[in-house]
Amino acid sequence: MYIVQIASECAPVIKAGGLGDVVYGLSRELEIRGHTVEIILPKYDCMRYDHVWGLHEAYRDLMVPWYGAAIRCHVDCGWVHGRLCFFIDPQSQDEFFNRGVYYGCSDDQMRFAFFSKAALEFLLRSNKRPDILHCHDWQTGLVPVLLYEIYQYGGMAHQRVCYTIHNFKHQGVAGQDILAATGLNRPDYYFEYDRLRDNFNPFALNLMKGGIIYSNFVTTVSPHHAWEAHYGEFGYGLGHTLHMHQHKFGGVLNGIDYEVWNPEIDRYTPYQYSADDMSGKLKNKKALQERLWLKQANKPIVAYIGRLDEQKGVPLVHHAIYYALNRNAQFVLLGSATEPGINSWFWHEKGFLNDNPDVHIELGFNEELSHLIYAGADLIIVPSNFEPCGLTQMIGLKYGTVPIVRGVGGLVNTVFDRDYDTYHPPAERNGYVFHQMDFPAIESAMDRAIGLWYHYPKEFRQLQLQGMEYDYSWNHPGTSYLEIFEYIRHK
Ligand code: ADP
Ligand code: GLC
Repeated sequence: MYIVQIASECAPVIKAGGLGDVVYGLSRELEIRGHTVEIILPKYDCMRYDHVWGLHEAYRDLMVPWYGAAIRCHVDCGWVHGRLCFFIDPQSQDEFFNRGVYYGCSDDQMRFAFFSKAALEFLLRSNKRPDILHCHDWQTGLVPVLLYEIYQYGGMAHQRVCYTIHNFKHQGVAGQDILAATGLNRPDYYFEYDRLRDNFNPFALNLMKGGIIYSNFVTTVSPHHAWEAHYGEFGYGLGHTLHMHQHKFGGVLNGIDYEVWNPEIDRYTPYQYSADDMSGKLKNKKALQERLWLKQANKPIVAYIGRLDEQKGVPLVHHAIYYALNRNAQFVLLGSATEPGINSWFWHEKGFLNDNPDVHIELGFNEELSHLIYAGADLIIVPSNFEPCGLTQMIGLKYGTVPIVRGVGGLVNTVFDRDYDTYHPPAERNGYVFHQMDFPAIESAMDRAIGLWYHYPKEFRQLQLQGMEYDYSWNHPGTSYLEIFEYIRHK
């Protein structure tokens, strides 16, 4: 099969969170199985060019229709650790992706509507006719809409679209001028409730809703979250739309790429280790303590790695720092915050805790350091408010770093409580799960975990090994996506 991924991220060249990991890891898995995969991305000024090999111009002067005129683009192409990526680079509107950030601008909806249009125009003009377009999140929600309404008449009638939703919280709610910009010239028609009109705001478009309605298949990134989005509150208003399209909606648990996330071959950690010989993990712990100026003490290290966003349960993350100190543990936080209030809160904490030899707070995005933390920490917390899948707990498991998670979304599908799980026998349990979104709940889970570390080291080791045995690679999800692609291709 010939598959084109259209997305706003691909690790490690463009990565703000798990979306980047998924686009890269799934593409690699599909290629290993003999399929042809190409990835279309925006060309941001702030992407990590050091991860692109052989960058060269692939298409010059692509004229992308826009508001009845056209924006001239170049399309560059290069290899990101073996994956063939195309980067859309608008020339006459060059500030679209030259902002020093990937997201967070007031015209994000317009920028990514343009990207969606440009990706299709590129496929059309360069005579690429993939079997499957795999689109991700609201940024590419317009791709199936434009494909079905405009591009199929331009010669792309046979493409099928799988649309994967990684985060229902961000839906691309936009002004109606996007219709005129992208050439959807019958505003009344597109603005119907069963097309692009937002379910809450009767004057706005919803790009994610368009993606759901116009795609041939829709997935979210874990089975439990598929249920939550459809029947619970985490569809953020799209539950009814999912319900109307439930025949083509399901959850596929993400994988992680074991070439990138694997303590046996990790090139960012000073010591490699495996379940057979864990001595390297202890050495990495010492290296981590040294690098972050922590006391070289025989205490468990509790870690948090992730975006600092309302989704991630920030008040619980904050509380966990102090509770870890209270329980005689160390705490390492690596977090990136885009929301100014949260950002200044954690900068303040960082200043306040600066001299404490048992805590380190690192703010910003640091891929290399994240590997050392996964490898050196003993426990990793994921106290999310909602979590479509979550990768940090799966990476933690692979590194023998025991997860403490809240029982929501993909965390439910991947972490099984050592003491209380009722579905898995003790030998298959791998971490700690709490449910309430409050301080006592996370405290009691941390008590159990830290208590095991201090008082039952053999049992703690056993729990680590049980976690390391899980296969959360792309092996299973790769098969599921191929089944979906085959199904829609022949429909
Ligand atoms: P989300 O996609 O919601 O941010 P995930 O758990 O799916 O959460 O994926 C997060 C990914 O981003 C993981 O690979 C994690 O290691 C990485 N990550 C998150 N924040 C940072 C950071 N500040 N520095 C380095 N890596 C980070
Ligand atoms: C999203 C979700 C996260 C998921 C990731 C990759 O950003 O917040 O739960 O793991 O996408 O699918």
